[in-house]
Amino acid sequence: MNPAELIDQAVHAAERAHAPYSGYRVGAALLCEDGTVVLGCNVENASYGLTNCAERTAVFSAVAAGLTRFSAIAIAASGSELPYPCGACRQVLSEFCGADFPVYVATAAGYDSLTLGELLPHSFGAADG
Ligand code: THU
Repeated sequence: MNPAELIDQAVHAAERAHAPYSGYRVGAALLCEDGTVVLGCNVENASYGLTNCAERTAVFSAVAAGLTRFSAIAIAASGSELPYPCGACRQVLSEFCGADFPVYVATAAGYDSLTLGELLPHSFGAADG
């Protein structure tokens, strides 16, 4: 699957965002090694701190479905700024994905392609698991 196809799915996922507080809609499309694409969106809450980001929604949904091997992720958002994932989502991705894992971030204007290693160098990993 090429980046544009995965980004299209992330755009679709953003339509499902529950973002009544920020108005900022984010979608994620997580490509699994078996070819499955798992979608995620941001899910906000009246208690703001309970909000879950689109990327973590996708990762947690995939893991709950028994999928833990991932090939790439696309993230799409409304607005003009490219939606680089927050630190928490980078760390969660690093639990399952290596430094060469491709991350595509997109708005309607275009996209950037980078790796998880570029986004999160020296990620935390417990010495003995
Ligand atoms: N958000 C994401 O979905 N992903 C990120 O990586 C950063 C932020 C969401 C959370 C919240 O609903 C909105 O964007 C504003 O922070």
